[in-house]
Amino acid sequence: MTAPIIRTLKELRSLTEKWKANNETISVVPTMGALHPGHLSLAQAARSASDRVIVTIFVNPKQFNNPDDLKNYPRTEHDDARKLAPIGVDVIYVPDVDQIYPNGFATNVSVAGLTDVLCGAHRPGHFDGVATVVAKLFIQTSANMAFFGNKDFQQLQIVRRMAADLDIPIEVIGCPTIREDGGLAMSSRNLLLSDRACINAPVLSEVMADIATGLRAGKPMAELLNVALKRLDQAGFTSVDYLELRAADDLALLDTPSRPSRLFAAASLAGVRLIDNIEV
Ligand code: PAJ
Repeated sequence: MTAPIIRTLKELRSLTEKWKANNETISVVPTMGALHPGHLSLAQAARSASDRVIVTIFVNPKQFNNPDDLKNYPRTEHDDARKLAPIGVDVIYVPDVDQIYPNGFATNVSVAGLTDVLCGAHRPGHFDGVATVVAKLFIQTSANMAFFGNKDFQQLQIVRRMAADLDIPIEVIGCPTIREDGGLAMSSRNLLLSDRACINAPVLSEVMADIATGLRAGKPMAELLNVALKRLDQAGFTSVDYLELRAADDLALLDTPSRPSRLFAAASLAGVRLIDNIEV
């Protein structure tokens, strides 16, 4: 059976108040819908961790840089509900826009530092939009735990910082990136790849894995990067926005994996921007 879909904060609160009164733990899985196995893995992790699971679907206008992107973002609510059914989530919260941004809404949640680098440098305002909507969803759901994908590792760290800074009593849990057979990280954007681009897309995760292996063997980043950029170019990738080693906690740029670190990449293939990151 598919979980009920609710669209107002009032309906959401009447459920969460009952659950809280029964001392039940609540998890939230924020999404923008068009669910794929990556999203479903988060719902599954939430299901195993708590008594109640809320999946939210909200295509957040504040985090889109391009109005066409927002307009064309896939909206597949009924398919999404069908995909969630076997997991047994308790409710799907699909708020109307005015439930998140009521008339006169004037607040912006902005996390300094972490938002300046990587995708933040290429998508102005994007992470403010994310931090603002996620703060709203945390407060509206009053969840004890929230599940996010390591796939968007910068987003995960920004959300963690925001919740800690604002004293929102929620545990933010990062979950492994789910990948296609060839290694490509699953993303709703992968649907936009042509058949030919699909063949070359896994080269991104391949070169990243090779850089990580090289770094672990003590090779210098500059040398590994040279080889990687050539391979990406040959595979048809254009405009590599970044391919960088950074500290896992504060995202500081590193030359060597001298502390817990990850390799981050964003590059476009046939007009589709792909991002990925792996632990080094
Ligand atoms: P969305 O892109 O729909 O992603 C929702 C969640 O799914 C995020 O936590 C994301 O990291 C996770 N996810 C996406 N692909 C994944 C994969 N291949 N493996 C594991 N997890 C994956 O991220 C957003 O929405 C929005 O910015 C949101 C947080 C909902 C705020 O609007």
